[in-house]
Amino acid sequence: MSAPSDLEALETRLSVGIKAAPDLAALDALRVNALGKKGEVSLKMRELGKMSPEERQVMGPALNGLKDRLNTLVTCRKTVLEDAVLNAALDSETVDVTRPVSHQARGSLHPVGQVMEELAVIFADMGFAVAEGPDVEDDFHNFTALNFPSNHPARDAHDTFFLKSAEGETSKLLRTHTSPVQIRAMMNKKPPIRIIAPGRVYRRDWDQTHTPMFHQVEGLVIDEDTHMGHLKGCLMDFVSTFFETDLVEARFRPHHFPFTEPSAEMDVRYESVGNAVKIGSGDKWMEVLGCGMVHPNVIRSCELDPEIYQGFAFGMGVDRLTMLKYGMPDLRPFFEPDSRWLSHYGYSPLLQANLATGLS
Ligand code: PHE
Repeated sequence: MSAPSDLEALETRLSVGIKAAPDLAALDALRVNALGKKGEVSLKMRELGKMSPEERQVMGPALNGLKDRLNTLVTCRKTVLEDAVLNAALDSETVDVTRPVSHQARGSLHPVGQVMEELAVIFADMGFAVAEGPDVEDDFHNFTALNFPSNHPARDAHDTFFLKSAEGETSKLLRTHTSPVQIRAMMNKKPPIRIIAPGRVYRRDWDQTHTPMFHQVEGLVIDEDTHMGHLKGCLMDFVSTFFETDLVEARFRPHHFPFTEPSAEMDVRYESVGNAVKIGSGDKWMEVLGCGMVHPNVIRSCELDPEIYQGFAFGMGVDRLTMLKYGMPDLRPFFEPDSRWLSHYGYSPLLQANLATGLS
């Protein structure tokens, strides 16, 4: 029959073994040997049945305590050994980013990222810099400074996601368009200004052609003698380069945006070829972007004098442009991480968009 002193000796022996286990396999063998069904401690537990009630009262708790302590030791040792395995892997799997990229490299660029690159290249060639603004905006930059009157229905039309602070304030929101970057650009820099601002925007919407997050690119030109002719030339050039055709026929349809006056939507002539579109021929018109001359109130909100400075702005949906250029029927897979879709529509990370060898 066991005595508490036997248990001490057993505990010492098993503990020393566990603490010194050289690897995870050895540790598991030791655990089974001690605590498994036929392990030394389990066999001792079985002896409890044959003991007198007095003996059992002493040995029962002693054995349970021993079991708990050994379990804790096993868990601790396991953590130490697992960390060692992980660290060894991290040490041996370092990537030398200075080495040439393997041509077998898998993975591809998302088409939206590719189109954003193309946009940056096309507009850089026309002298535009790329600007950025935050996704979490405030009412001033997203609406007020852009000449949206308070309580104007246009604010609701954007189906804004408002954010609540810990104090319950809703002064922050997710930007509903990239136009707030116009405000940031004009407040931070003296004209002449020529920027594009690609980025994410957010609206409460979800169907085949709308997702709650999507991408826009904004354009802004502010100078002392910029006029509507510049706007038209710039956008015609853009469409022609982006869709890789010299034949662009466009019409500017009067529209309304609070932040531009006059405002227009630009349509281009096209025909459908399968899922893709062919620009320049056909008898259909497709809306590609919104644009206009920057409203004097907007220029004034940015503490510039509209008697001196004017310019134009435009904004378009990057996802929609991507769908049109590459004949993609549904917007939703853009944001579902499906590797089959990506390997079909994605771009090689080794091919850079550039005007010399072609964009895509
Ligand atoms: N911000 C507008 C939109 O989201 C687009 C736009 C930008 C229109 C700049 C005119 C000028 O619909």
